[in-house]
Amino acid sequence: MKERAEFATKIGVIAATVGSTVGLGNIWRFPYEAGSHGGGAFIIIYIACVLLVGIPVMLSEFVIGRSTHRNSRGALKELLPNGKWHWISYLGIVASMMILSFYSVVAGWTIEYLYISIAGGLSHHSMAEYSAMFSAVSESPWRSLFWTLLFLIFNFAIILRGVQKGIEKISNVMMPLLFIILIVFCVNSLLLPEASKGIKFLFNPDFSSITPTVVIDAMGQAFFSLSLGLGCLLTYASYYSNDTPLVRSATVISLLDTAVAILASIVIFPAVFSFGMQPEAGPKLVFQVLPDIFQRMQGGYFWSIAFFILLFFAAITSTISMSETAITFFIEEYNMSRRKATAINAIVAIAFGSVCALSFGVLKDFTLFGMTVFDLFNYVSSNILLPIGGLFFAIMVGWLINKKIVNDEFTNNGTRHITMARPIIFCIRYISPIAIALIFLYGLGFFNFIK
Ligand code: TRP
Repeated sequence: MKERAEFATKIGVIAATVGSTVGLGNIWRFPYEAGSHGGGAFIIIYIACVLLVGIPVMLSEFVIGRSTHRNSRGALKELLPNGKWHWISYLGIVASMMILSFYSVVAGWTIEYLYISIAGGLSHHSMAEYSAMFSAVSESPWRSLFWTLLFLIFNFAIILRGVQKGIEKISNVMMPLLFIILIVFCVNSLLLPEASKGIKFLFNPDFSSITPTVVIDAMGQAFFSLSLGLGCLLTYASYYSNDTPLVRSATVISLLDTAVAILASIVIFPAVFSFGMQPEAGPKLVFQVLPDIFQRMQGGYFWSIAFFILLFFAAITSTISMSETAITFFIEEYNMSRRKATAINAIVAIAFGSVCALSFGVLKDFTLFGMTVFDLFNYVSSNILLPIGGLFFAIMVGWLINKKIVNDEFTNNGTRHITMARPIIFCIRYISPIAIALIFLYGLGFFNFIK
């Protein structure tokens, strides 16, 4: 077998995985999902999903990846040689390409907004003008194709040149800065006239707004934001060294990721209510609210530039992790060269990314199941494919693979005592799979007969 690298430092492990988890999922997707689903109630269900499903599934991926030091298919074949369990890894590869496609469109908007900020376009406008600005950004075929493809070029150039490690080093600085800038923005938002309405919306749950859709979307959001279910963190964990503490890492990473999502919401919702916007605006929410926040800030010109640069880094460390998952898979399972594997990933992403980029404009009437291709990829990947992957990872680690392996991975071969081991294993075996299965059935309307 080829020699495989290991992450050099402890901070490197956490940083690369945080780079994967923290991204547009936290800052763009979480606020609009929460906004569309009643705020507080969504957040409570989301947090329950992170604790009861997210952390256990993350640990399951860590155990599978680190114990085998292989990509998802190779790992499953090694741990469960009998049977067809490795098939689940194909689902993950499909999901990674779907996500990369629509994610690049939003990352493209991020670069375009950076460009607009630098050109001084984010000041002296009315809300209506910002709304028109977003329509122009998202609906114009050439603009959206251009910025989406530009983002993909960055992504694949980094991967082809093998400078991911360099990007991760930069993002070691960028992610803490992103955290700090969000805190500054939070303070700013909390001083807005109607801030209390936004805070109430976020932290005063209205349980009557909980419906099957809310629960499914909260679980999907947890999988998406924590990069779970497609073998991405499994692949990253395959590079962890044998003394990385898995339980502690999974906990810290999940809490950080959740903190960023909640901070982003504390920035957005006081502004939404103060400026008289609709919390359920959907994918455009954040891009419409932010310019108005910036233009009211002291030094808004610089804040906006800094913010979009940081968001760009958050996005690209996430897309690198998706591409790396697919590329490692092709290299190790099909003996491909790195170049060829990267080319395949790039061609698929460019093709589907272009279709997603046009979904807000010329292809907005091209729908399947009532959704544009962008919406369909977004929905199917997070709400269906990732939870299915997570369900299998949890079942494998909870029931199928050798218990000694699980135990060795948890305790770093017996050198570490894990107080929470029993409750976590209990979640992996029972709570997470049952919760995922029930949420699916609930979402499919299976329990309607009870009423
Ligand atoms: N978690 C990232 C975000 O929040 C997106 C992401 C990266 C992802 N890798 C993934 C989502 C793997 C699902 C699976 O932006």
